[in-house]
Amino acid sequence: MRNRTGDHSWTGDYRRNGAPYRLWPWFGALGLALLLLAGCGAAPTLRTPTAPATPTITATPTLKVLQTAINLGTAVNYDALVNDAEYRALIQRYFTTTVPENEMKFDAIEPQQGTFDFAKADAIVRFAQENHIAVRGHVLVANGQLPDWLKNGSFTRDQAMAILKNHIETVVGHYRGQVISWDVINEAFLDGPWALRNNFWMRAIGPDYISLAFIWAHEADPQAVLYYNDYSAEEMNGKSSAIYALLKNLRAQNIPVGGVGLEAHLTLAYHPNPTSVAANMARFAALGLEVAITEMDVQIYQGSGTQAQRLQEQARYYGDIASACHHTPACKTFVIWGFTDKYSWIYDYWKHADAPLPFDASYAPKPAWQALLDTFLK
Ligand code: G3I
Repeated sequence: MRNRTGDHSWTGDYRRNGAPYRLWPWFGALGLALLLLAGCGAAPTLRTPTAPATPTITATPTLKVLQTAINLGTAVNYDALVNDAEYRALIQRYFTTTVPENEMKFDAIEPQQGTFDFAKADAIVRFAQENHIAVRGHVLVANGQLPDWLKNGSFTRDQAMAILKNHIETVVGHYRGQVISWDVINEAFLDGPWALRNNFWMRAIGPDYISLAFIWAHEADPQAVLYYNDYSAEEMNGKSSAIYALLKNLRAQNIPVGGVGLEAHLTLAYHPNPTSVAANMARFAALGLEVAITEMDVQIYQGSGTQAQRLQEQARYYGDIASACHHTPACKTFVIWGFTDKYSWIYDYWKHADAPLPFDASYAPKPAWQALLDTFLK
């Protein structure tokens, strides 16, 4: 279980400001073990990945190979987690945070009105707990992935509010104390003009759906950090400024928003300026918010040059975003949207071949992984 301290640290974290004290005995043991293994008394070097260890699903509490100063996370694909031992082993080995990619979304978790199906999400949470991995909850209020009963139903404003309240209370309450942060509101802004989307919740409830969702989530788990999460808002631009204005306003009204998630779905044709990303993070932090990179991947299909050159360029993009996070004290979490090209959402969604993640489809580390190590292990 995580440590409920003011900074929401969790016993599996490896943080910039020092590891939580409860891990020190483990670190001591690890250090000793590494010294014995190395046989030379040198400080343990942090390694780049080699072949994954023999997979174990319910490993005894292991220490991560990578003791990064940041919560390094990955989205988790449920089917892969269940069926692919190598996939599980790499998560166990490298990551301290996970995010169910789809299993906590509205359609998955409340397929019929008032009937909740937690089975798959519970399995992911259990796996995480068994391996001392934190869980980010994703997502309570989004534009899509709504069940048919909701999308096709006809509800008064009061009924829609009751549905949303019940959903949030039930889901957040179910995971109270087990989910460290929630993406409460996802992608509420248009890509331009920078207005709120006219999504289901906007039509049914109006713009208050945002503050209500934060309030209900906070009531259900006062310790969870509650995030606004969006894409194309990594740098200073119209969208990030609209989000900034919204969150500033919510904070001024004491609405319990605690973080902003910058997704970082990039392509080689879309490279946010690193200086601007850092400045953007700083302005959100100045509102008292946590900042997190929540869904990073980098599509390479639009790049030029050989595959090897594209992968080097991809690594630079990963490194730039990682570095902006690493140098922002409020940015303690960096999540990639899956870690292996084997299961990326890109192929189904964008219908093109790609290689967006730091490990290839055979689980070999790519230059992007080295870029993350170079940044976070400094
Ligand atoms: O659940 C059905 C399954 O019953 C059916 O057999 C199968 C057939 O294709 O589809 C399954 O649903 C798919 C679902 O993923 C679960 O696999 C949907 O078609 C597919 O559209 C859905 O895609 C997800 C997408 O969100 C939906 O918008 C991606 O996996 C997921 O990576 C993506 O994640 C989003 C974040 O939530 C928010 N930020 C952007 C990010 C990327 O789009």
